[in-house]
Amino acid sequence: MAGQALSRAKVYDPVLRILHACNGLAILLLVATSLAAAVLEFTPEAATLWRLHVWCGYALALGLAGRLAWGLYGPEHARLGAFWQWRAWWAALRERRLFTEPEGFGHHPLAAGVYLAFYLVILALLATGLALAAIEQGRGPLVEWLGHDVASKALFKRPHDLLEEFVWGFIVLHLAALVLHESHHGVPVAQAMVSGYQYRKEKS
Ligand code: HEM
Ligand code: HEM
Repeated sequence: MAGQALSRAKVYDPVLRILHACNGLAILLLVATSLAAAVLEFTPEAATLWRLHVWCGYALALGLAGRLAWGLYGPEHARLGAFWQWRAWWAALRERRLFTEPEGFGHHPLAAGVYLAFYLVILALLATGLALAAIEQGRGPLVEWLGHDVASKALFKRPHDLLEEFVWGFIVLHLAALVLHESHHGVPVAQAMVSGYQYRKEKS
């Protein structure tokens, strides 16, 4: 209803917001470097971009380690348990109500499921990316095990390439959901990872 009063609460702490910004930036740079290197093909510039791609990968590994630590020791809404909302997922599937108005503070339950799946995709990209760094560039922590082992290249390259599509899919879905929640449900949503505040309609 237009003009309905909103209540607000501080939900996302500064550490979580900084981790979100750093990990989001690292992921955007990973996408950008891989796209640009693919266009430049077998040039020295492409080789430099692939090296940069791996450095962004190390930055993401640090960011993910930080997110995991914060998921274990951080405040309530940053905890890993906040992602696991299977009762709400089951109810949404049964009632076929997926794009519902956010209620209560913290992650929207369905968004929490998508974030969990996304983190698993990113971890798989990290593992296959570290393997490729050892095989293609002879660097990184897996070099002892896989260094220049071209025989096993396809094993890591195909899943790495395929999972990139999921990253695209997530970014488009995430940004679209933030905008659509704001326009359909009339509450500010996107700013929560900047200010830390979430807004909800007050029940009359
Ligand atoms: C490449 C870009 C981005 C990626 C990969 C990304 C990824 C994520 C992830 C993984 C989460 C879950 C947070 C957690 O760990 O608890 C999240 C939540 C969130 N992100 Fe992003 N994000 C991106 C860009 C943005 C942008 C540009 C905004 C808008 C300022 C934004 C706003 C939010 C908000 C508000 C939430 C919490 C939503 C909720 O309460 O469920 N994100 N994002
Ligand atoms: C958002 C995450 C990521 C995306 C979207 C992404 C995307 C891509 C794409 C599209 C390719 C080209 C694959 C092909 O030629 O078939 C690639 C290659 C590669 N990626 Fe990633 N990647 C990501 C994360 C990582 C991470 C975390 C690392 C390592 C720490 C990494 C290391 C590599 C390496 C070493 C290659 C091969 C480069 C070469 O040919 O020298 N990637 N990546």
